Amino acid sequence: MDTILTRSAAEAAQILKRGGLVAFPTETVYGLGADIFDEKAVSKIFSAKRRPADNPLIAHIFDRSQLPLLAKEISRDAGRLVEAFFPGPLTIVCRKTERVPMNATAGLETIGIRMPSHDLAREFLKNCETPVAAPSANLSGRPSPTTWRAVAEDLQGRIDCILQGDATEIGLESTVVDCTSTVPTILRLGSVTFEQIREVIPEIEVVSEVLKDPAKSPGLKHKHYAPSAAVKLVSANENFGGENAAFIGITEPAGTFVLKRICDTTQDYSREIFEFFRECDRQKIKTIYCETVENTGIGAALMDRLTRAAKR
Ligand code: TXA
Ligand code: MG
Repeated sequence: MDTILTRSAAEAAQILKRGGLVAFPTETVYGLGADIFDEKAVSKIFSAKRRPADNPLIAHIFDRSQLPLLAKEISRDAGRLVEAFFPGPLTIVCRKTERVPMNATAGLETIGIRMPSHDLAREFLKNCETPVAAPSANLSGRPSPTTWRAVAEDLQGRIDCILQGDATEIGLESTVVDCTSTVPTILRLGSVTFEQIREVIPEIEVVSEVLKDPAKSPGLKHKHYAPSAAVKLVSANENFGGENAAFIGITEPAGTFVLKRICDTTQDYSREIFEFFRECDRQKIKTIYCETVENTGIGAALMDRLTRAAKR
């Protein structure tokens, strides 16, 4: 199949409305979208990505008025999160309406909903005139794409269109909060931080509680974010390096590396990590040394992704 590359949100939306798969930028990572109410289009997402059918998709909206199309009810806590963090890099999990096909939610009675803040994403979603089901626009198991070129690397020829935008600002996927449990629970850490959510919902639980029960967030049990190279977590004062090695972190390391990325802040590090992983694979790096960061704020989300990438 020919993949159309375009900078026009209107053109991309037309393709989606005709049942096509369209990759589009958001503030977190690029998503691979289909009309959520079109069961056939939704099933094509799973085959294009080679995504396991038991991993549910996030519904993307451009306006709060679309919430009732997707969610049976918005609990008090979900309402607080919407109020505080929509639009932005946060996904809420609610009970779904009948209209949402079961393949979109991987058989669950719940659905993740997110309203991106990214301008081009919003223009695209508005033009789609329907909520858009979209996982990250990578082949399953690979690092999420933060540039349209990374999308093309994985999916050119497998999807109908790529809406070309800039590199994404945040670089890590959205924070996912389950609002259907008695106590709302963070299922995936992201740039809306635990600390920020706690200000809105003081009793919020952390992901580590949930990790013990992988069935709750189906995505957690699947392999994620992994480059082909081995990933090793190091702290700046350790001795590391070797042949065909790369480094990414905040502190200048002692050794020499084929590829090296020194980031100014944890935020910059988060924005760069997935593209750095991909660059390492392109250059056939064997080992990627990643400096650990403090486990708070967005650092907690970054450490989560690094730890998963290292666990293979
Ligand atoms: O930032 C993001 O969230 C990006 C952009 C494109 O919006 N999307 C993204 O989607 O990262 P994906 O499919 O790669 O990750 C979705 C995560 C998975 O871990 C999935 O298991 C979880 O959200 N999820 C989705 N729906 C869920 C549900 N109903 N219950 C529990 N977890 C859910
Ligand atoms: Mg993903």
